[in-house]
Amino acid sequence: MITIGILTVSDGAARGEREDLSGARARALATQLPDAVIQQQSIVPDEQEQIAALLRSWCDEHKLNLILTTGGTGMSPRDVTPEATRAIIEREAPGIAEALRTISLKYTPMAMLSRGIAGIRGRTLIINLPGSPKAVQECLEYALPVLPHAINLLV
Ligand code: MTE
Repeated sequence: MITIGILTVSDGAARGEREDLSGARARALATQLPDAVIQQQSIVPDEQEQIAALLRSWCDEHKLNLILTTGGTGMSPRDVTPEATRAIIEREAPGIAEALRTISLKYTPMAMLSRGIAGIRGRTLIINLPGSPKAVQECLEYALPVLPHAINLLV
């Protein structure tokens, strides 16, 4: 079984002003992983402490295998998902972030604006995805086939 958490980071979605299409897209795609179980799914505003606290709890208490975040990776002052992730990971997994930016550049030069990172806390792999449903789709289609092996190495 691969236990998964999906965290949407968005002020608008957290206030209920816009539908969480990116979280839904991430969920639909992650469900395609073999034996995947989506155990946690939440929406938080772009607040570093809130993001970090939830990530910590999903790693340490729920011991999820994989956490996918979406949103908050850009350059606006409110975009702090990479900082929140970096604050709680123990080891960075730069190859994943590099690969996602590389594949994303095939779709749009705007991909260079995403500051998303990936890393490991305990036995949990955390991957930051950009905030649009399109970006979630483009990144996950590429990354998903690699993730079961990564998760196997962590358990
Ligand atoms: N990556 C892919 N694959 N497809 C996209 O459409 N959009 C980019 C980038 N990465 C995009 C992408 C844009 S326009 C921005 S501003 C950054 O991701 C950051 O997005 P975020 O702040 O919603 O996380």
